[in-house]
Amino acid sequence: MKVGFLCAIIVLLHCHLILALSSQDAVLVVGATGGTGKQVLNGLVQSGLKPKNLRVLSRDASKLKFLEEQGFGTVKADLNDCDSLANALNGCSGCYLHSTVGDTKELDSNEVLAARKLATAMSLRETPMHVVYNSAVGEESLIGSRKQQKRAVEDLFENDFPSIDFTSLRSNFFMDPLWKKYTRPAILAGKFTFCVPPDTPIHLTAVADMGFLAGKCLQSIKTTKNRTINVSGDVLTPVEIAAAFAKCQGTPCQHSKGTTMAIMSRLFFKSLWEEIVFLRKTRITTDIDDLKQEFGKVTSFEEFLDNSGWADTSRTYEDLSR
Ligand SMILES: NC(=O)c1ccc[n+]([C@@H]2O[C@H](COP(=O)([O-])OP(=O)(O)OC[C@H]3O[C@@H](n4cnc5c(N)ncnc54)[C@H](OP(=O)(O)O)[C@@H]3O)[C@@H](O)[C@H]2O)c1
Repeated sequence: MKVGFLCAIIVLLHCHLILALSSQDAVLVVGATGGTGKQVLNGLVQSGLKPKNLRVLSRDASKLKFLEEQGFGTVKADLNDCDSLANALNGCSGCYLHSTVGDTKELDSNEVLAARKLATAMSLRETPMHVVYNSAVGEESLIGSRKQQKRAVEDLFENDFPSIDFTSLRSNFFMDPLWKKYTRPAILAGKFTFCVPPDTPIHLTAVADMGFLAGKCLQSIKTTKNRTINVSGDVLTPVEIAAAFAKCQGTPCQHSKGTTMAIMSRLFFKSLWEEIVFLRKTRITTDIDDLKQEFGKVTSFEEFLDNSGWADTSRTYEDLSR
């Protein structure tokens, strides 16, 4: 009886050791050195991952040097260079894939091909891999070309690379780009132009929550593999968003439907127009209470504004990525 008890303790200790060791494996982080990248890294660290166990991938040595100075693991690689990917993946058992191309005005059609190269490099290794991917919510009938590419990346991992465990985090409207210079100065001056009717519910996602949930999924004992999870921390109408800005900045802010901007988008900016139509028509919801229960927290819009220092008028979008 005593021997059996001892054996059970040894087995438990052994399992604990295996878990502890696996938690030391590196997590490759792809596409998190751009405008929204630093918030992703903050979220991954908040989830319990150590900066030195994150291996942030970039083509740009100067960005990596900056991250190394902050204690992050890094690797110089290019998604279009298969040899560099094999090296980048060495010692990794998890990957958070935030992006495979730049978030450019003109859609970069390399997104799916770059994902295929990464998945191929993963499938050639013996180590099992869990990938968590930054995708986007949306009904099939409403999603534009940008979101369709993200669905194609989901399909690719799920159907062409079944040996890779895959979790899709479908983000809603990111809060962070509201800091960009084509929106923030006008909002601070009192006008929040958002081309949807004032009472339309908008699901909002803080980018840091993508990193946080990804980190939790990668470390989870309860599996999130082969799951699609919609991610949002708040749901507000444009009028309520404007009110939250006003409250945080301490100066008035009103929502404007932006009729001229809508016409301009329809005529000249295809992917912006697709997003406007989507936001006007989508009926997809995200269960925020469920997310809080499963992952412990998600960020409300008010918290996002406070945490990001919105009220400090000297700060810019670029400051968020430092
Ligand atoms: N849900 C929403 O509302 C919303 C809003 C905005 C963005 N997004 C999505 O969020 C993601 C990131 O947006 P962002 O604004 O942070 O993008 P970004 O500033 O353009 O950054 C792009 C990232 O992709 C990496 N990358 C591009 N090509 C690469 C290659 N060949 N090899 C390796 N890395 C490569 C870049 O790395 P290096 O240049 O350092 O190599 C960088 O880390 C995108 O998928 C975008 O669609 C969603």
